[in-house]
Amino acid sequence: MSTPLEISFARLDAAPLSTCVAFASQDLTLSPAVQSLNTKSQGLILKAAEAGQFKGKSKSSIEILAPQKLDCQRLLVIGAGKAGDNTETDWAGLGGYALGQISARKTTEASIIAEVAGADLKPDALAATLAFGALLRHYSFRKYLTKKNGEEKDKDKENGANGAAEPKPAQDRLTKLVIHCADPDKARAAFEDKRALADGIYFARDLVNEPANVLGPVEFAERVKELERIGLEVEILDEKQLKEMNMNTLLSVAQGSARPARVAIMQWHGAKSKRAKPLAFAGKGVVFDTGGISIKPSAGMEDMKGDMGGAAAVVGLMYTLAERKAPVNAIGIIGIVENMPSGTATRPGDIVVSMSGQTVENLNTDAEGRLVLADVLWYVQERFKPRFVIDLATLTGAIMVALGKDFAGLFANDDKLADQLLAASKVTGERIWRMPVDKAYDRMLDSKNADIKNIGGRWGGACTAAAFLHRFIKKDTPWAHLDIAGTAMDAPKNEINTSWGSGWGVQLLDRFVADNFEKAEK
Ligand code: BES
Ligand code: MN
Ligand code: ZN
Repeated sequence: MSTPLEISFARLDAAPLSTCVAFASQDLTLSPAVQSLNTKSQGLILKAAEAGQFKGKSKSSIEILAPQKLDCQRLLVIGAGKAGDNTETDWAGLGGYALGQISARKTTEASIIAEVAGADLKPDALAATLAFGALLRHYSFRKYLTKKNGEEKDKDKENGANGAAEPKPAQDRLTKLVIHCADPDKARAAFEDKRALADGIYFARDLVNEPANVLGPVEFAERVKELERIGLEVEILDEKQLKEMNMNTLLSVAQGSARPARVAIMQWHGAKSKRAKPLAFAGKGVVFDTGGISIKPSAGMEDMKGDMGGAAAVVGLMYTLAERKAPVNAIGIIGIVENMPSGTATRPGDIVVSMSGQTVENLNTDAEGRLVLADVLWYVQERFKPRFVIDLATLTGAIMVALGKDFAGLFANDDKLADQLLAASKVTGERIWRMPVDKAYDRMLDSKNADIKNIGGRWGGACTAAAFLHRFIKKDTPWAHLDIAGTAMDAPKNEINTSWGSGWGVQLLDRFVADNFEKAEK
């Protein structure tokens, strides 16, 4: 629910808007377009750089106001560093940095000159990637800020020690961004898939940021159902259907809440053959996790509105695949529940028969995500016989103890699948670290009273959680689990994300799909 940003592409020689961004590479190397701005202004860029001790270091900048003989009111020169070494992620980051610099100036329109000396991306890819980074950075969740001009908040900030100017008044938000480049038509075409990706990420971020009073399971499912408008096939299963299908572990989590559970199934048929085996993605969608009867401490509990970050990523991915018409068949499935304590809530010690037939002893009602996924994972394998299943879940606090908030945990029963995900991670900058799937953890889940219990011992909490999910994976299904508790929400801010709900995973999985499954299926 960000304010919209209209992005368009124009030629390098078109007049820039009042705020204009140009890049200078390491040691002040300038591209021809920037060189010509320098010449036109009688050497102003290089003079200002010297006065400001600016040398083109990545993510440093100088501002030149009312530059003589140029069409703009303000020229921001941003360092691109050693341009030849920059990866795609670095360029997206620079686009984000540029957007941040523009926004801090409270201007409503701006131009970016997307010609950078020494860049080894193709010009149209460079323009599209800078635009993509800028668009992601532009996101902010402002739906509930009623003081549209944000005056009071801004005053407070301005008087504050650091003088930071966030959040920005809506009336001063950037609404129009023009990317200047050698071939606007080509850049516009290159930007199409990236816009689809950004749209998916925006959609995921909105879901995660939305408070749980507004986004219950029913409302979540409704938002997914609306995606039929972009060509997804969507089925919503209600509690009656879930009962008939024996999704009892999922339902046991939901039974304490006044709001009923839902399962949403999204299908995208983009492959030539309708019968090509689908790729499957499953998500944990706990709209709020109080812990249930094993209730959580109150401090920080508000963050548990984001316990549906896995489901949001799956929806965001499906959104992107549909919007860019990816030539694959893919299934997205999410279990949507609320975990509440009440007179009808599940108790510690309860034993439930999962859809797979395995009995589960619930020893801690706060280990609920795995109960939701157990049934969802089983169902998706039974019904769709997918090529593989990848699940995403804000599953454990323990993954943050292990990896912090910069990496998500990757668990997999299949090395090829794991390596494909690791490769996609390298190019997108959504970082993952492989963790063990091992008998040692599986053993810790043996229960006296049932086939399996839902918690392990004191140690290795992320690994026992993964081992639990593994029990619901069929022998021949390649499977990967991403524990995104640290990355889906309140993750470290970066140049392309300043939102609490990060939309983490959409980019990683979109790239994973594009790089491994599209060429062969076209
Ligand atoms: N949703 C939580 C995990 C979580 C914690 C996500 C903090 C994001 C931030 C999950 O349902 C949970 O409560 N896990 C427990 C498992 C334990 C009871 C075995 C945990 O990690 O403490
Ligand atoms: Mn929990
Ligand atoms: Zn949870």
